Amino acid sequence: MKIAILPGDGIGTEIVEQAVRVLNVLDLRFESETALVGGAAYEAHGHPLPESTLNLAKAADAVLFGAVGDWKYDKLERALRPEQAILGLRKHLGLFANFRPALCYEQLTHASSLKPELVAGLDILIIRELTGDIYFGQPRGRRTAVDGHFPGAEEAFDTMRYSRPEIERIAHVAFQAARKRHKKVTSVDKANVLETFQFWKDVVTEVHAQYPDVELEHMYVDNAAMQLVRAPKKFDVVVTGNMFGDILSDEAAMLTGSIGMLPSASLDKNGKGLYEPSHGSAPDIAGKGVANPLATILSAAMMLRFSLNQGAAADRIESAVQAVLAAGLRTADIWSEGTQRVGTREMGDAVVASLAGKAIGKTITTKS
Ligand code: IPM
Ligand code: MG
Repeated sequence: MKIAILPGDGIGTEIVEQAVRVLNVLDLRFESETALVGGAAYEAHGHPLPESTLNLAKAADAVLFGAVGDWKYDKLERALRPEQAILGLRKHLGLFANFRPALCYEQLTHASSLKPELVAGLDILIIRELTGDIYFGQPRGRRTAVDGHFPGAEEAFDTMRYSRPEIERIAHVAFQAARKRHKKVTSVDKANVLETFQFWKDVVTEVHAQYPDVELEHMYVDNAAMQLVRAPKKFDVVVTGNMFGDILSDEAAMLTGSIGMLPSASLDKNGKGLYEPSHGSAPDIAGKGVANPLATILSAAMMLRFSLNQGAAADRIESAVQAVLAAGLRTADIWSEGTQRVGTREMGDAVVASLAGKAIGKTITTKS
């Protein structure tokens, strides 16, 4: 088994370092190789996704990814910006199925911006289609308008499109995931306005015929955004397109009060995947040693379970994370009165200690 490790930019390097320490303490047999990606790769090689990094990711059984991006690259032409690295990896590796769990940890219920009773026990799985939609649809570009409200004016355009097989395969992923959970799928669309999403709704409904044991509901995206803050616990699996999924998954993550805790997986048709925290590169706190490494550590657990067939090791990591939370350790993003504030490395130390069967508090030196 080979893991490609792509830490990226900002806090990416700090959090991935802790996840790698956790993997190493498990005594699993795997090879790993690290490469630059995003802004870091642009600085070194002039491109955010160099050929060598892409080839490493292609050859590996799984990719552990940190985060990319920094405001200082905002003025670069689009093709050279750090975000192109993650978009390129998704496209070239065929990572069409993005799993974004939004889980509210019992100890963090009060960190949510919603009332505790609305989020206590929250457990939603957002399944976002990741290689189609307006993100990748051609044609796109700038031109002179020949019609519309201002013929002759400069305009920009993107193309929203989905083919039947693209919708079918993500629908199957969603129904199969729901079977292992509470057997309910909410398909989010904008069928009242968009042709693409009327087709989405039709095809999801057809695929549903093969899953009579799973309940299917359809919901417009604006209503879904509202229901997520009104009664989030009504959702089980949410399946949607690339753009709506981008927006709703951020909303759902924030509901849990713990975006620093949420892992994600992006899988291809054979179960090979890229694993990354749901949060970004947070350049404002990069290098300060305060970022929460748990989302990345939990992403490593997802990687073991989904791509490397090491479910037991994944369970151990997840239990260790529960244990450090139960012991009261918190990074700044999830800290509250009465808990112990720790940095990135101390949090990694604590997870490693728990996995090694040692007392968690003993390794902690920082005080809140
Ligand atoms: C995400 C991010 C990316 C996306 C950006 C960085 C291109 O927001 O993974 O949700 O829009 O997909
Ligand atoms: Mg996003």
